[in-house]
Amino acid sequence: MRVIVCENAQEVAKEAAKIFAAQVYMKPNSVLGLATGSTPVGMYKILADMNKNGEISFKDCKSFNLDEYYPLAPTHDQSYRYFMNVNFFDHIDIDKANTRVPDGLAEDPAAMGAEYDAAIDAAGGVDIQVLGIGQNGHIAFNEPDEKLVAGTHLTSLTESTINANARFFEKKEDVPTQAVTMGMASIMKAKTIILLATGKAKHDAVKELLDDKITTSNPATLLKLHPNTIIIADKDAYNG
Ligand code: F6R
Repeated sequence: MRVIVCENAQEVAKEAAKIFAAQVYMKPNSVLGLATGSTPVGMYKILADMNKNGEISFKDCKSFNLDEYYPLAPTHDQSYRYFMNVNFFDHIDIDKANTRVPDGLAEDPAAMGAEYDAAIDAAGGVDIQVLGIGQNGHIAFNEPDEKLVAGTHLTSLTESTINANARFFEKKEDVPTQAVTMGMASIMKAKTIILLATGKAKHDAVKELLDDKITTSNPATLLKLHPNTIIIADKDAYNG
């Protein structure tokens, strides 16, 4: 695992954008694994500016997002599909038909999950996966548990995650308690993974990510088994 420590969140965004843009520059038809949440927003903004300036193009890229609230329609303003459109896709030249987010309305989430994983494989696998990290070490919505799930699946959110995400909703009761999420194997298959972490609230989770232990009670620690993961953290997340 390579670790890059940055002065602040803006520097994290710049470092992440550099690595992400290099991937797209080297392989214009890259398969992109994308995350929502507040952490990658700065990186998306830089990439959108680079696209506007003609430095990189996403027109031949495909993308797969990590997760979606369940049940939630893609048109809902708190859905991750909506988030991706507003924060990234609407500002770049990617063909939206080539962008996928797990279906938050799937009647049969298990079948949807199997199809989603098969679609990623059929696209050639994710070339670069962007991850944030939860305060409890979750990646995507793989929450700490005794057993983690391999493929894309329906899951329940922990109290910690519901509390953390309540800031995006009018009130805590509005936060969906379930989500459809890529599983650990789906994530670990990505060729390159960049995990972004900013702010003191992420320090405990990041600290465990940087010791030599692996535990399902901090799902991010499984990334230590991945051959090409880069952690980009600001000083607050790194030092606490
Ligand atoms: C979002 C996702 C989540 C977030 C995590 C951190 O697609 O998969 O795991 O990355 O909850 O969220 P922020 O960046 O808002 O602190």
